[in-house]
Amino acid sequence: MLRPLLIAPSILSADFARLGKEVRAVDEAGGDWVHVDVMDGHFVPNITLGPGIVRAIRPYTAKLLDVHLMIAPAEPYLRAFAEAGADVITVHAEAGPHVHRSLQTIRALGKRAGVALNPGTPPEAAGALLDEADLILCMTVNPGFGNQAFIPAMLGKLRSLRAMIGDRPIDIEVDGGVTEATASQAAAAGANVLVAGSAVFGGGVQAYAARIAALRRAAEGARGEWV
Ligand code: DX5
Ligand code: ZN
Repeated sequence: MLRPLLIAPSILSADFARLGKEVRAVDEAGGDWVHVDVMDGHFVPNITLGPGIVRAIRPYTAKLLDVHLMIAPAEPYLRAFAEAGADVITVHAEAGPHVHRSLQTIRALGKRAGVALNPGTPPEAAGALLDEADLILCMTVNPGFGNQAFIPAMLGKLRSLRAMIGDRPIDIEVDGGVTEATASQAAAAGANVLVAGSAVFGGGVQAYAARIAALRRAAEGARGEWV
């Protein structure tokens, strides 16, 4: 069954000096989720934000906060992000030896659990986690920075993930280099949640709604039926 197509603007490309207003702006512009990139300068070569910022932006939207943890270890911080108001918490399969336990912990905290795969990680890495995961995030760039180019080889991985999931109620999210062109390719390959940073925030606040709508249109037109 086709799962809903969702656009998740990534605030990594927002103006951090006015983050609350940016969150409200992408909500009002039609974003479905708000994607929050957490980086630790260790698992990835960049540092962004922590639970305090998640708590600070929480009042600016009633939509789901989709928190992507690019940190290792993740386990010690799961409760803090849950209590700060995250709705979806995604950990990387490469971030430690106990990703299965982390997914169980996230669900025990009452949140949706996601597992992320770096471009170099094969789709099979998610195979043993399907009973614990509500979402699989397929990185389509190497994590750490916005505004990088989509890696075309990830389309094959998306198709493998889609086949692997079958009719399980699991979202497939793509993150990195999403534009109208790649949104359409990713949706055709089986993704139903599209993260977009520079493609939404790059044109200034007056363009957010049109940019989100354009991504949605491109992806909707390319979707198949996976039953
Ligand atoms: C990259 C982050 C992405 C990033 C995507 O490590 O996980 O969420 O914001 O940015 P764009 O859409 O500009 O590639
Ligand atoms: Zn992300």
